[in-house]
Parts: sequence; C-alpha cells; structure tokens
Amino acid sequence: MQSNIRRIGVLTGGGDAPGLNAVIRAVVKTAINEYGWEVLGIEDGFEGLLFQRQPRLLTHEDVRGILPRGGTILGTTNRGNPFAYRVEVDGHVEVRDLSRDALTRIQQLELDCLVVIGGDGSLRIALELSRLGAPIVGIPKTIDNDLSATDITFGFDTALHTATDALDKLHTTAESHHRVMILEVMGRNAGWIAIEAGLAGGADVILIPEIPFRLDSICRAIDQRDRMGRRFSLVVVAEGAMARDGSQVYQEGGAVDKLPRLGGIGQQLAAMMRERVQHEIRVTTLGHVQRGGSPTPFDRILGTRFGAAAVRLIAEGGFGKMVALRTPDVVPVDLAEAVGVSKRVPPNGELVRTARGLGIHLGE
Ligand code: F6P
Repeated sequence: MQSNIRRIGVLTGGGDAPGLNAVIRAVVKTAINEYGWEVLGIEDGFEGLLFQRQPRLLTHEDVRGILPRGGTILGTTNRGNPFAYRVEVDGHVEVRDLSRDALTRIQQLELDCLVVIGGDGSLRIALELSRLGAPIVGIPKTIDNDLSATDITFGFDTALHTATDALDKLHTTAESHHRVMILEVMGRNAGWIAIEAGLAGGADVILIPEIPFRLDSICRAIDQRDRMGRRFSLVVVAEGAMARDGSQVYQEGGAVDKLPRLGGIGQQLAAMMRERVQHEIRVTTLGHVQRGGSPTPFDRILGTRFGAAAVRLIAEGGFGKMVALRTPDVVPVDLAEAVGVSKRVPPNGELVRTARGLGIHLGE
C-alpha cells in the first residue's frame, strides 16, 4: 500500500520497563530501512510533546548499542497528562486541559503519526488524543503485565526473572537460618509477577491482589510446614495484595498527579506474623530493581516485534490502534480495547489451581 507518511514521532510514557530501548530501536530502524521515513524522538513522554523545544531526529547512530540497555533513551515521566495538566499558580495546583496544545504540537512538528509506548495511563491519553483526530499508534508496556488486549507486555519477563532470582537467593539463606523470608514484589492491581515468580522460585505462600488473604490461615500454613519438619518458609507478596477487609498498604509521598504509591505490605505482614509464628522473619522489598537492568531475550524480541509491527501498522494507516501479542502473532487491536479492562490473575484459573495443587498457600 502506498503511504503518505514522511515523518513519525516516538515517545515513552509512564514507568519505565526493560525492553523500551529495543522498541525504540526497532521503530527507528524499520521506519528508515523499510520506508525511508524520518523519526523524531520526543523526550519525557507527553511532557516533552507539550514543551520540548526541538525533539531530535533519531538515526541509526542514535539507536546503535541500545538493545541490551535498560531504561529508555528518550526519558519518561508519569506527569504531563495533556487532558489534566497540573500547574502550580500562587501555591495552588490548577488542572488545565492542554489537549489542543498537544494536537497543535503534533502538527507543528509535522508528525504524520505519533507512536506512544506506554502502559494503561499513557495509552488512555493516546486513545483520547486519537479521538480528537491525532494520528496515533500504541505499543503496550508494563512490568505488571496487566493489559488485557495483549497476551504479554514486554518488561514482564525481565521483572519475573529478577523476582525469581531473588527468591532463589532467599531460599538458601531461609533454609540455613530456619527463617520465614518475605519477598515483596511489584504488581499494583495484578499479581502476575508474584504468582509466576512464586511458582518459578518454589514459594510456600503467594499473596496476590486478586485473592484477599487472612493472616490466620497464612500462620497456620507456616505452622503446618513446621510440623512436617520444614523449618523455613518463603512468602511472596505482591505490593497490591489486600487483606480480607480490602485494605492495602500505601507509602507516603505519592506525586500529586498520580495514583497513590503502594508499598510496605511485606513489613506490615511481618509485624503481624511475628506475634503468631515462632520463626524469625525477614523482609526483602525488591522495588524498582524489577524495573531496571538489561532486558531478557524474550523482552528484547517482543519489544523488537512490537516496534517493527507498529511501523508496518502506520504504513497501513492503522491509526487509533495498538499492537498486541496474540500468540503466536503480533496483531493490531483498537486502543479502546487496549485500555478497557485490566488483566488480572483469574482466582480460579489454571495458574492458581496449579499453585494450590502443589500445596502452595494463597492466603485463603
Ligand atoms: O506499573 C508499574 C509499576 O512498577 C507498579 O508495579 C508500581 O506500583 C508502580 O509502577 C511504581 O511506580 P513509581 O515508579 O512511579 O513509583
């Protein structure tokens, strides 16, 4: 198909994830090699789209050597939502709609399409801008793997490796000291990292947001292991895990224009368990280690496939869409579908049933 595209832009939005650079590299190389287009790299997500003076032209040289690098060469931020842009005026925060400015910027930069690489938040902005007429194609990213339109998001596999490696390391020290080791992993509303790392790392207890937990039953499971002569236990808890009363644990100091920051459930659990179990308990909070580092081969390949597929989608005029993995293919889906429902671990699905069958306690 003949396309009228000459220049596209690319930005990364929201939290970073391993594999972002693989996507950027594939977008730049495919756009130049296959179609002869120019690619403008917009820094720091939508903030950069609104305010970066002159985004830079990305060449082969700019993307050389970035495939194994974590982070994003373009920078990213959770701030800068054009539909609810926060500015401080005389000590007060004012929320402004700068969506028209974003559209104007896309025109001023002469972008025939903007590639938005992001999670739920950035893809929602992408959808709204595309509804206002902006030519946009999305690429799904998040270590949480909670976007329903794609089988897997890139970044998840690397985070899973990091969490599994941590569990393997905790296993030996837990066993030596006869301790209960609690590992807190990321996962805001979805327990994919926790359940998969727990299965891969041989955890004894896995707590995920989808299955509210009861403290008594966790303590009973640990006592039972004691009675069977297992003098240590490994507990994996997703940061978004919730007690039966629906409460979750948050940190202080979330940014004003973001969702509240989760974190601290591991320590809180330990404090509650100390009165009930005989063992010493130690807590490891993995935090942003899961977001950094070199992407696994799986994430490099998925990121590369997404980047290349997004460019082909632009050539076909597939604006308002996002690329998604529907194994074994990468296919276009509507952005509206992509941001519709978040993908959570089915509480009675095959993964959970497998865990139960292995005798892993899920806090029920
Ligand atoms: O959505 C990805 C994620 O890593 C979540 O698992 C976590 O709750 C959140 O981002 C942390 O965000 P921030 O880096 O802004 O604190």
